[in-house]
This record gives sequence, C-alpha cells and structure tokens, in this order.
Amino acid sequence: MHARVPLRSGPVADLRTSIAGVELANPVILAAGTCGYVREMADAIRLDRIGAVTTKSITVEPRDGNTPWRIIDSPAGMLNAIGLANVGLDRFLAEKLPEARGLPCRLFGSVAGHSVDEYLRVASAFAKAGEIAAVELNVSCPNTSDGLQFGEHPQALRALLAEVKPAVGGKPLVVKLSPNVGDIVAMAKAAIDGGANALVVANTFTAMAIDVETRAFRLSRGRGGLSGPGIHPIVVRMVHDVFRMIARDAKVPVIALGGCSNWRDAAEFILAGATAVSMGTALFIDPRSPVRVVDGLDAWVARQGCRSIGELVGMAKS
Ligand SMILES: Cc1cc2nc3c(=O)[nH]c(=O)nc-3n(C[C@H](O)[C@H](O)[C@H](O)COP(=O)(O)O)c2cc1C
Repeated sequence: MHARVPLRSGPVADLRTSIAGVELANPVILAAGTCGYVREMADAIRLDRIGAVTTKSITVEPRDGNTPWRIIDSPAGMLNAIGLANVGLDRFLAEKLPEARGLPCRLFGSVAGHSVDEYLRVASAFAKAGEIAAVELNVSCPNTSDGLQFGEHPQALRALLAEVKPAVGGKPLVVKLSPNVGDIVAMAKAAIDGGANALVVANTFTAMAIDVETRAFRLSRGRGGLSGPGIHPIVVRMVHDVFRMIARDAKVPVIALGGCSNWRDAAEFILAGATAVSMGTALFIDPRSPVRVVDGLDAWVARQGCRSIGELVGMAKS
C-alpha cells in the first residue's frame, strides 16, 4: 500500500501511478507534439507538478512538415496537419535530449516513421537513452501520406511490433492507437499481442474543413486531425471498450488522450479505465490547465472517499 503524499493543505490523496513499471508522481501527462521536445513548457508550468512529458514525434530524418495552413480552429477543438515537423533523430539526441537531465517529471519518447526500419532506428536510439523512461510509438498520425498504415491494420501493427519490441529491450513500449478504425479493440489486441506494455487511446480523428467563400480546403493538405473537447466523449467510450474488453485482463495500462481540458474530463477517463490521462489541445488554450487537473483530481479522489487514485480506475458503474 502507498503512503499518503501530502502535496499542500486541503484534500490530500495519493495520485501516484505506474505505467508499466514507470512510476509517475501523478497521472497527468503532456501529449506528443503539443508541448515541444522536452522542456519548452517549463516556462508556463512547474513540470514537477505533472507526471510526464511526451516528446514531439521524432523521425530519422528532419522534416519541415506540411506547408501552412496546418493548424485551424474548429467549434469544439482544432484541426492540425503538422505533418511530423521535427529536427530528426541526430539533432534531437544532440541538442534536445540533454535538456532532459534533471527533468522533474518522466519523459516519454515518441517515435514516428514511414517504414519498419525508420521506427526501429528511432526506437533503438530511445531505448538506449537513459533520460527516456518509455518508448511511445505513434502509429496513428493521419498527416503523412502513409502514416496510417501501421495504425490501421492489425497485421501491419503486429509486423511492426515484431521488429520494434526486441529493439527496445526492457524499456516499456507504449503504442498510441489510431481512433480512425472500425474496431479499436482489435487494434489494441494486436498491440498487446505484439508486446505493447501500455496503450495510448488515442490520436486525432481524421477531419476536414472547407472555406465556403473561396471553396478551398482550409488546411493546405486538405485533411487533418481533429482534437480538443469535441472528441472527449468518443474517447471515453474507446477507453472504456479497450479497458473492459482487453486491457484490464491483460493488465496493460491505458493512457487516455483526447479532449481533456479539466479535472472532470480526466476523472471520467479514470472511471472509464485509464491509468493516466494525457492532455494536448488544452495546452494551447491554457498551459496551466494540467496542474489544475492534478489539483482537481486530488480533491475528487478525497471526496470519493478513496486514498489513492488507483482505487478509481475503471470504476464507472454499469
Ligand atoms: C498541433 C498538434 C501536433 C501534434 N503532434 C503530434 C505528434 O507529433 N505525435 C503524436 O503522436 N501526436 C501528435 N498530436 C496528437 C496529440 O498528441 C493528441 O493525440 C491529440 O491532439 C488528441 O488529444 P487532445 O484532444 O488532448 O489534443 C498532435 C496534436 C496537435 C494538436
């Protein structure tokens, strides 16, 4: 049993959680691609108040990403088609990763690629990097021409994991699933069969917006990914299904990601079966929101009469 961890005066709960052996001070994680490489958010929030930061997805070669417009607003969130813009593996290791020394929270390294070999190269490098606590595979980015191939087909995901899993050694392998599939539980099963130690549910939903005056696509690439509050209820359902139909029995933790902007959204995810909750779009609206979510969860756990947040995982009544 965990000891109680006093954070401040007022309600006090034990928010510590564990993702496949990686201990987090609390279940709030900053999502890939929305918080820079490592430490960029430190100007806005105290990183010692959150559980983990996820790096932007890193590819072998540097990428400029898509041409603008590549982010636009939508009534219930935003559409993005960034296209995996990043400095590439070598510069990430040389210039960005050293910033992780002394980081007061965990760092998850996000990997993207266009072939098994590219995933393998980045994942192997992350596996060797002591600063990176877990390797997260972004198999679900909808913004490159072939980015969906591994995240859309169970066989392709299994084939990718058959190569990548041995390369990450003992480090936890987190698979970030695409929501753009008919049966996300089948994809979760493929990921678990392939050796995933944790799942992120999920990435952005493929979407499109058209300017009715010019009749042009509002995103230069035409389609992009919808994120933000509008997707939250759909992701609650996905987390619930993945948790109840496969992850709970397999003892594979689920990290919920999609539209969480306040502690209530996070608490809903926990009740649906999430062990941790990641936040992306909310950071663009208010970068301090993750810390408020931590405080809100703290008070909620106490009000529920529980000592630790783990007691509430998957406890939605049905
Ligand atoms: C501007 C932007 C960039 C993103 N870049 C990445 C990325 O590099 N890798 C990745 O796995 N997901 C990326 N995502 C997806 C987020 O990590 C997250 O899955 C998605 O935004 C849904 O969560 P939210 O509704 O809390 O934003 C990006 C999202 C946004 C809005």
